[in-house]
Amino acid sequence: MGHAPFGSRRLGILISGRGSNLQSIIDAVAEGRLDASIAVVISNRAEAAGLLRAREAGVEALHLSSRDYPDRDAYDRAIVGALTTRGVDLVCLAGFMRLVGRPFLDAFPSRILNIHPSLLPSFPGVEAQRQALEHGVRVSGATVHLVTSELDGGPIVLQSAVPVLANDNVDTLSARILVEEHRIYPDAIALVLAGGWSLAGRRFVAAESRS
Ligand code: GRF
Repeated sequence: MGHAPFGSRRLGILISGRGSNLQSIIDAVAEGRLDASIAVVISNRAEAAGLLRAREAGVEALHLSSRDYPDRDAYDRAIVGALTTRGVDLVCLAGFMRLVGRPFLDAFPSRILNIHPSLLPSFPGVEAQRQALEHGVRVSGATVHLVTSELDGGPIVLQSAVPVLANDNVDTLSARILVEEHRIYPDAIALVLAGGWSLAGRRFVAAESRS
């Protein structure tokens, strides 16, 4: 499975809340560290602070509520419609607290990224930092992966580890992981946009690592 570089490099970013990862992508684009443009930001929640961050950066920001659609597939199709009409090539989930359904996955095959606050496959799902603390791991971190139908189970693009300290709580561990999230998400987007990578089973094989 080969992937050519994207021509237009248009990102669609989906959020549900604070939007600090969105901000890291906005900043990377603004500072020329990420050769892409943000075509649209979509939130399923009207009150998401990330919508304001987008508007402040001059990026179109939409609220699409699942309550306005009869079922999950219809909502997914509405999101897909909003993304495709804006020419989005790559979708970035950034704290988007909803499962991505079949119509969405089929519209963007291997073209949806997610960031997760653990070293997957450990601690998928919600409250990953709390899960890590309760399990007593000494190391946790952040993972950017391609989205598949398996929750937090798609091919891993980049990871970064942080120590878990004896006196950590959810807030301190989350803050340490978040620093790494903000660093690796723009890098992972650039890696995917550069093309030349392939998938081998569940592995993401970066261009330079092929022999
Ligand atoms: C991040 O920890 C991300 O890994 C997780 O949800 C959080 C979103 O934070 N999926 P923010 O909205 O990007 O600030």
